[in-house]
Amino acid sequence: MMSVTVAAPTSSAAGAYLSRSSRRRFTVALRSDVSVTPTRILTNLKHECATPLPLLQQVAKAMSDDMRAGLGLGPGSELGLPMIPTYVENLPTGNEKGLFYALDLGGTNFRVLRVQLGGKDERVIATEFDQVSIPQDLMFATSQELFDFIASGLAKFASKEDGRFHISKGRKREIGFTFSFPVKQTSIDSGILIKWTKGFAVSGTAGRDVVACLNEAMERQRIDMRVSALVNDTVGTLAGAEYWDNDVVAAVILGTGTNACYVEQISAIPKLQGYASSSGKMIISTEWGAFSNSLPLTEFDREMDAASINPGEQIFEKTISGMYLGEIVRRVLLKMTEEGGLFGKSVPQELSTPFILGTPDLCTMQQDCSGDLHAVGSLLYDIAGVESNLSERKTVLEVCETIVKRGGSLAGAGIVGILEKMEEDQRGLIFGNGNRSVVAIDGGLYENYPQYRAYLQSSVKELLGIEKSKNVVIEHTKDGSGIGASLLAASNSIYKQNL
Ligand code: BGC
Repeated sequence: MMSVTVAAPTSSAAGAYLSRSSRRRFTVALRSDVSVTPTRILTNLKHECATPLPLLQQVAKAMSDDMRAGLGLGPGSELGLPMIPTYVENLPTGNEKGLFYALDLGGTNFRVLRVQLGGKDERVIATEFDQVSIPQDLMFATSQELFDFIASGLAKFASKEDGRFHISKGRKREIGFTFSFPVKQTSIDSGILIKWTKGFAVSGTAGRDVVACLNEAMERQRIDMRVSALVNDTVGTLAGAEYWDNDVVAAVILGTGTNACYVEQISAIPKLQGYASSSGKMIISTEWGAFSNSLPLTEFDREMDAASINPGEQIFEKTISGMYLGEIVRRVLLKMTEEGGLFGKSVPQELSTPFILGTPDLCTMQQDCSGDLHAVGSLLYDIAGVESNLSERKTVLEVCETIVKRGGSLAGAGIVGILEKMEEDQRGLIFGNGNRSVVAIDGGLYENYPQYRAYLQSSVKELLGIEKSKNVVIEHTKDGSGIGASLLAASNSIYKQNL
């Protein structure tokens, strides 16, 4: 192969596609041989990614089995899902009152929020939030740098509290801290980071209590607040959704990463043997991103996993969540280009850059209804300097469709696995006549990608069948996790007796 660098044209046909980077220079290599056609690669891909009903049933069953194994004690439990006890035993009642803060660290953005809760009648009186995207270098920083970033964001936000928010004399402001990584909770307000996910590789946090890390950073910033609840984003979402709808039984996040939580009976959690719970229940964070059984994986998934910072881990997450769908498609397109001559003789080197194609890009392309797939052509040109014809654009769309269909369908199977596990243990609870079982879903992938959402919903319907489907409601909850975390801070407040 021979490499040449070309200036992005401004007056050729491709020039019409320029929208994002009109002065970029693209490097292309010239390929001389074709070993396999793009059509052949696409056919194999579709075959390997197919999610027929029997496969989805197998995935749902494997999810239930791995949940059960992970709740167990002793040999075999390590083969199951993490199934993390959250120490959330009671969901918000609606009586919560006062001023509470929430911090949310978990994916692309860091959020701070305050809410004035008014009890049963007034509910949420006022709310305000701030959001910043997490600088890339912070994901590879030291623990102290990361927590200082969080605490200084909090300090800045807290200094702008206006008259709509007020706190009783003598009380500290309390915080619900949403920390969306696998944490071994030791109580409702403490927990040790097991490992980072979603591309974070901050040094010095794994094995430490993340609330202690935050407290130390707050001290450095001279912030006098108290963390009253440490929650996963799924748990915040469940609490926030349940505040408005008592039929919510589970919550799922489908964003940069993925996870699900649900309400479990203490008696069904052997690893909490002897634990006295006030309600007989506890929310379990499944950490289903770690699931890997029965999944239809391809060479592209395996290669992406091998190149990741956590090889062998979070396989379900790497197959269905927003951080990875674009990257899988990029890997397929690269092979089609290098070995199959997609886009003619040139192999755009930009396509060799990991993560250059994001899941939002796939979404943009899939919304293109124009006859010549203009938006697809434009995006391919902007990102990779590729000049494409209609047939090549159609191929690209089919690759997107295949990977997104697999992701959405498998996410649906995971949800059914959870519902079936709950139903098996408490017959009639989920699918019983007249029941309404709500699964609250949040996260940018679910919210913004209509095709993904549709595949998820149709997979749930297909698996449950008409009768059971009548009882199950899949509901989108937007930004419920912040309010949920503050509600949990309220229900675990040190001043609770006075509420
Ligand atoms: C984390 C979970 C989190 C999920 C969604 C995963 O990578 O392990 O704790 O809930 O992402 O944010």
